[in-house]
Amino acid sequence: MIIGVMKETHPREDRVALIPVHAATLIKKGFTVMLEKHAGLAAGYPDEAYTSLGVKIVDSSTILLQQAQLICVVRAGASHHQGAQLAQAMTPQQILVGLLEPYQPHPSFSTFQEKKVAAFALELIPRTTKAQAMDVLSSMANLAGYKAVIIASYYAKKIFPMMMTAAGTIVPAKVLILGVGVAGLQAIATAKRLGAVVSAYDVRAEVKEQVESLGAKFVVLPLENASTASGYAKTMDAAYYQKQQALLQAVVQVQDVVITTANIPGKKAPILLTKAMVEALSPGSVIVDLAAERGGNCELTQLGKVIDHQGVTIVGIENVPAQLAYNAAALYSKNMVTFIDNLIKTTSDGFQIQWQDDIVQATLLTKEGQLVHPQATQWLTKGGN
Ligand code: NAI
Repeated sequence: MIIGVMKETHPREDRVALIPVHAATLIKKGFTVMLEKHAGLAAGYPDEAYTSLGVKIVDSSTILLQQAQLICVVRAGASHHQGAQLAQAMTPQQILVGLLEPYQPHPSFSTFQEKKVAAFALELIPRTTKAQAMDVLSSMANLAGYKAVIIASYYAKKIFPMMMTAAGTIVPAKVLILGVGVAGLQAIATAKRLGAVVSAYDVRAEVKEQVESLGAKFVVLPLENASTASGYAKTMDAAYYQKQQALLQAVVQVQDVVITTANIPGKKAPILLTKAMVEALSPGSVIVDLAAERGGNCELTQLGKVIDHQGVTIVGIENVPAQLAYNAAALYSKNMVTFIDNLIKTTSDGFQIQWQDDIVQATLLTKEGQLVHPQATQWLTKGGN
């Protein structure tokens, strides 16, 4: 079976879906791996690093799509137009694995159906122990949490650590992390390492212990615990969010840096910071909104832009993991190769797709012309919001 690695087409998408060492793992298992020329270059993996391990390089995505049975991508869904174009070029029975943005109404999916492509969305990897090594969202969120703090420190007018100098003592910056999932925890750890005074808040009361174990203060608000039995935050009504904003006002206004990561899978991000809350911050403060791609946790966030609002810098950052493409590609690739290993078993009869496997079923969106994921029709018509 030929596995094809496409060069990403989305602007500033520097990651690659498979790095050389993991391509070699697949080759050892009996697969042929084919790479579109320069697909790994932007992430720091030149063609020679692949060819030296037995990967074949092809000049164009057209050749790759004509020959490979399984296509690996990072972000086929990032641009719906490009996703649909990719789908158009695919042929029946081909397999596509990548981040396909399954919660959005998406023209690619009708094309996947028409073309009878088996499309797997890695966003849908279940949060189980078995699937942990395939969990791209966690891998990417971890890097995003780190980078958000580095970006905040770049824009901040204050340093993060305390500094005692002959010219006086500088007090440490105050950093607040809103939303303590994978990204939030890494942001806490990174801000602590830089010496800031860190506090954090989440609607899931059970994260208090994790926050404190990293040496940060957990902010408790008199609000109902909003976690589901499966450990995720649930959507609450408008009155809840208004009360949350009112209660957060006093916590937020004394901060130098606020990093927001609050998210509910498949939904628009909740607004935690209103315009009034931004205006109550001291000039020179910084907000880094990691939820910008889901609509933003700050009312004023503009996706892909850094804006100044009355002296407060608001960073509406987009696709953060691509800014750390070398490491992000390595983690994504490890997740990808583990997913493929679970999806396809080598038997004496050749390669067998494990259609009955629970992770395979949880991630499969379309197969043989049908939308097979149980919730996909709902997401694709309502957009998950
Ligand atoms: P996420 O990226 O979906 O959301 C980030 C955080 O935002 C969550 O902690 C959520 O509770 C919080 N949030 C949502 N609405 C909020 C609001 N209005 N105000 C404040 N915070 C709000 O989260 P992520 O990183 O996916 O983690 C979600 C859970 O899944 C966590 O318990 C995490 O430990 C768990 N997890 C489990 C894994 C596994 O079992 N393999 C892998 C990764 C995460």
